Amino acid sequence: MRTQALDRFCSWLEHTPLSQAIQSAGWVVPTVQTIHILAIAAVMSSVLMLDLRLLGIVGRDQPLARVTNRFRPVIWWTLPILLATGVVMIIGEPARSLANPVFQLKMLLLLAAIAVTAAFHKESRIIAILSLSLWAGIVFAGRWIAYY
Ligand code: HEM
Repeated sequence: MRTQALDRFCSWLEHTPLSQAIQSAGWVVPTVQTIHILAIAAVMSSVLMLDLRLLGIVGRDQPLARVTNRFRPVIWWTLPILLATGVVMIIGEPARSLANPVFQLKMLLLLAAIAVTAAFHKESRIIAILSLSLWAGIVFAGRWIAYY
């Protein structure tokens, strides 16, 4: 989705002093990108542990509640880091992501993944596969933004 209002907002944001500062300091974007990637590693490894347990592939000797209590907080605590680093990247180059359908898809997938992760904690292969697909889709979309 791309509207004139969105284009105007991107152009306004791009010319704010904060955006200009991010653009001219060459170290900011690579640094926040690195933190974004480290946070993705934390989220994805926790998602994998949870979903492989739901699929019965790992940790079958561990009660599901224990695995959930161990790994779900890692996801919740890491999402604000992804949000903050993502926002810095957006402010630095707003149109590249905000006006990009792949970025918009990524945000929709993220909302769905958060809902599935928050709502379901019963042993279910379908939920595990849905969750893995959504989180993997977010990673694909994240990388794809640069190429669309
Ligand atoms: C919480 C909200 C999030 C926001 C606002 C956000 C925003 C962004 C932005 C703006 C980029 C830069 C894209 C570009 O210009 O090429 C990016 C990259 C990326 N994001 Fe996110 N993101 C968020 C959460 C996530 C999550 C949850 C994941 C995966 C679990 C993720 C995975 C990625 C990946 C794989 C990249 C490409 C990194 C690279 O190639 O350097 N993001 N994100």
